[in-house]
Parts: sequence; structure tokens; C-alpha cells
Amino acid sequence: MSAEKVTTSEQTAIGIAHSKLILIGEHAVVHGQPAIAIPFSLVGVESVVEYVPGSVKLDSTFYHGPLDLAPESLHGIVNCIEETLKYLQIPCQDLLIRIKSSIPPGKGLGSSASVAISVIRSLFAYSDEDYTEEELLMLANVAETFAHGAPSGIDTLTITSQCPVWYEKNQSTDFIKLNDDFHFIVADSGRVGDTRLAVESVANLLKAAPGKIQRKLDRIGELTHQAKHALEKAGKHFLGQMLNEAQKELEALGVSDAGLNKLIYFARQEGALGAKLTGAGNGGCIIALAQNEVHSRQLAEKLRKFGAQAVWPFVLKKHE
Ligand code: MEV
Repeated sequence: MSAEKVTTSEQTAIGIAHSKLILIGEHAVVHGQPAIAIPFSLVGVESVVEYVPGSVKLDSTFYHGPLDLAPESLHGIVNCIEETLKYLQIPCQDLLIRIKSSIPPGKGLGSSASVAISVIRSLFAYSDEDYTEEELLMLANVAETFAHGAPSGIDTLTITSQCPVWYEKNQSTDFIKLNDDFHFIVADSGRVGDTRLAVESVANLLKAAPGKIQRKLDRIGELTHQAKHALEKAGKHFLGQMLNEAQKELEALGVSDAGLNKLIYFARQEGALGAKLTGAGNGGCIIALAQNEVHSRQLAEKLRKFGAQAVWPFVLKKHE
């Protein structure tokens, strides 16, 4: 499901999207600091639109029925579908939208943004229209505003990208050129997190103690700059240190929980060069940097045995 192409037959159209990981900079990115995110193609979403007379219907793991009766948890995607149809000047009727996802929701892997992007792609394909990157992001951010409250836009952007992204709100995006292969493991703590709540909790802390919290967000920004230097020049040992330092700040912001910390400390104890939560936290996944390919396989196995609900080893390849 990693290719982003969209296909159409006479009355059926398909849109797909991969997921994303935040390497470093989550939460601080909402408040204007940079972040680095990685497209993650081991899991993804497929949306299939077909002509079925009557009201618009959704068919997904969580809900099967008319769009206007969808539960509150799906209001982001419902709004996104309505906005996209309006934008395409298609009447909101005679469609069945089937969403199949291998991205576990609430795990920091960008599930809501991937669903939105695959659905928008399928609706454009259905109406035989091309879209620009700006149109895609603008419509996907309708859904993200429901999911995150005040999204930075990093999830949607990374999901439409093919390489690691340097992202700062309201700035042009940069792509990062790696000077080496980096072997990572993503491990799922098994607990679902709520991005909107986590983002709000940091915003509340910032209101309550602006000086102290701003220093933490600035520190994450500095570490993100250092992590970019590590990816492009300084190498994996330095990157690992930056990931560990960022985790300290995330813990101080209250967005890491016992389940994440347990996996993170275990990964470090088993030789990870660095480990931290990825995404909004308080549930969800960790990302650990392995020493090399063999170590990455061994660490993945150990994390699985230690109790991680799912484990994905993957490599970021050196830029040729
Ligand atoms: C969620 O993947 C990343 C956060 O920084 C929220 C956002 O940037 O919208 C926690």
C-alpha cells in the first residue's frame, strides 16, 4: 500500500496513503518549533469509492452506515468528505466509501491523516479530477482539526511525502538527505492515546507556566536541529543521544506514560542508541534507534517478547 497512485474504473475509484512517524519534535511543532517526520509505508489505508444509489454511506471497521449518522469519533472524516465533495461540486449522494486500514488508530502513526488523504484521493479519482499538493493538504487538515484540535500540519504533510521531512509551521518544507543507513524499531505499547487531549494538555501547561514550558519547547527545537545534523553528518550515536534528550523533555511535559517508559527503558537497556515516544504520546508507540540491521532484528524480537503489542523494524536508507 505504499504507492500513492490512484486508480479508477468506470464506477469505482481507489485512493491510498501510507502512515507517518515523528522522529523528533512532536508537541513543540504545534508551538512553532521544527520537527522531523518520516513517511512510514509498512502500514497504510485504502479507500474505495463506488456508485451506490441513495445517501452517502461509509463502510469501515468502526462504522457501517449513512454518513450523517456516523458516530462522533468519525466527525473529522465526515466533515472532510463533505468538504471534498463540495470542493469537487459533486452532490453528497449515491456513493459508498469503503475504508480499509492497517494503521492502528490512536498509536501516533497518523491514522486520522492517512484515512483523510486516502479518502480525498479516492474522491478526486472518482470525479476524474487531478489535485495539487496544496488542495490535498488543505482538505485533509479539515479532518485533522477535529482529531488534533490545533494540528501543526506535520502529519498530513509527511503522509504525502516520500522522504524524511523537516517541518516548521508556516514555513516551506525541507527534505533531509541521510548520510548513512539508520535502523529503527517502532513498538506499540498497546494503549490508545488521544492526540487532541495530549495537545490540549501541553497548551494548558504553557498557559499555566509560560516561561518554564516555553524553555522545554525551545529545548526540543534545539534537539531537533541537532538531530538533523546527526542524520546529515554526525551519525547514529549522536542521533541516539538527541532522541534520549527529547524523551526527557516529553516526560517533563507529561505526555509519556508508564507503558511507553517501560518500553523505552527496556530498548535502551538492550542496546538501543536512543529511544523515545513517537507522536502525541500517553499511549501509542515508541521509536528506538538500533545499532545496525542485525541488532534491529534482535531488538524487535526482544521488544515483542517483553510485551509490545506490535513491532515494526525498518531502515531509513542513505541518500544516494
Ligand atoms: C502528532 O502526530 C504530532 C503532534 O505534534 C500534534 C501535531 O503536530 O499536530 C503531537
